[in-house]
Amino acid sequence: MDRRKVTLPEIQRKKEMGEPITMLTAYDVSIARAVEQAGIDMILVGDSYGMVVLGYDTTVPVTMDQMITAAQAVARGAKSPLLIGDLPFLSYQVDVPDAVRNAGRFIKEANMDAVKLEGGRDIAPTVRAITNAGIAVMGHVGLTPQSVSKLGGWRTQGTTAQAAHKLLDDALALQDAGAFAIVLEKVPDRLAELVTQRLQIPTIGIGAGAHCDGQVLVTNDLLGMFERFVPKFAKQYAKLYPIIVEALSEYKREVDSHAFPTAEHSFGIKDEEWNAFLKSLDEHQEMHSHIAFDETTDAPRVY
Ligand code: KIV
Repeated sequence: MDRRKVTLPEIQRKKEMGEPITMLTAYDVSIARAVEQAGIDMILVGDSYGMVVLGYDTTVPVTMDQMITAAQAVARGAKSPLLIGDLPFLSYQVDVPDAVRNAGRFIKEANMDAVKLEGGRDIAPTVRAITNAGIAVMGHVGLTPQSVSKLGGWRTQGTTAQAAHKLLDDALALQDAGAFAIVLEKVPDRLAELVTQRLQIPTIGIGAGAHCDGQVLVTNDLLGMFERFVPKFAKQYAKLYPIIVEALSEYKREVDSHAFPTAEHSFGIKDEEWNAFLKSLDEHQEMHSHIAFDETTDAPRVY
């Protein structure tokens, strides 16, 4: 079924009408297709790619080139959701022209509709410069994984009166700088609700309670693709990991016992072609039996 492309005005309309906005991550073509088919509004090609696909402990090592490759795959798989490329660590923090150039790569090379970056008031001039270049920006405050070591770990943010104030101020600064939406990650639900009420643009929560304008999860968490740690905020709607391991084990058992492949998974050749092939093989062998090698030169001699 062909769906209509989700646009920025449609996301803003949902905020104004109080209709929930849905966002999920994707890093490859098949998950992107499935997310689209589920009717999700926005796909984030998150730098969580570094953790859930590339196996890093944090998102910090992810490069711009790795993100572009993942984003290109997602854009080939999903056309209708709004597509957002996540700017990785050091692709926008060093200087503003660099940030605009890297944001532009997502649009030019990977068909993304928007970019996301982490940070509050400090990063607002960069958000302004990217939006001035004609690129839509999603902000991200609260737990910002690229600064996990500065934050002292994966802890909940905005839990003191002062920190709550700063978080609200950061969100307002991003809105003033032209951001079209803001991710609130791992903040108290009451604070997320207040920020959502104070902003004109949508908030998208992850571990931020039920009162944000929208929700986002890492799709691999939602699908239960991991056997290891599952964050408290990540509800598992399926447990695919044991199902995958069972399917792979079954494959191994069937190959070991010669139960796979059967005729159903094999290919044929017509009898006449096969017989002609065997005949030509005989003739070939026959010819080779008439070849001897010269002992002095090693050259073949046909007799
Ligand atoms: O990288 C990511 O997946 C994210 C989401 C958790 C919002 O930033």
